[in-house]
Amino acid sequence: MDYGMLCAQAQSLAESEGWYVALMANASALLWEALSDINWAGFYIVRDGALTLGPFQGKAACIHIAKDKGVCGAAYRENKTMLVPNVHEFPGHIACDGASNAEIVIPLRDENNAVKAVLDIDSPTLNRFSEADKTGLEAFARVIEKAMKGL
Ligand code: SME
Repeated sequence: MDYGMLCAQAQSLAESEGWYVALMANASALLWEALSDINWAGFYIVRDGALTLGPFQGKAACIHIAKDKGVCGAAYRENKTMLVPNVHEFPGHIACDGASNAEIVIPLRDENNAVKAVLDIDSPTLNRFSEADKTGLEAFARVIEKAMKGL
């Protein structure tokens, strides 16, 4: 997986429009096209201390996630990437799509390091995401985070 290329594509999209909705929508589409073996890729946005569904690709998903719920809530609460090889072993995992078996969630932060949104990618394959995927997807998230406007 060429994450350098993926980041360059995201950067190029971000230069044409930084509004966070357009950026997140195209970022989800990029991930959906580029990553093999995934069943969901998209964003949850921080609103009033909880997460609300944002732009994504995949099946319709849960709309609200509390800060103390699920993998997304943990990434928000702990302000760190959650790489989960087996979601069924993660306490409080929210099964939006029963096909999901592995997951990675990466926080997007503002200039004060406060979490503004999270990037959530799910896979039907156990252990789908490696440390290399984590590094690459964090770099991708940094591009979106720096460019996004209006959030
Ligand atoms: N599985 C997530 C919920 C979001 S859906 O996967 C799109 C979680 O436990 O946070």
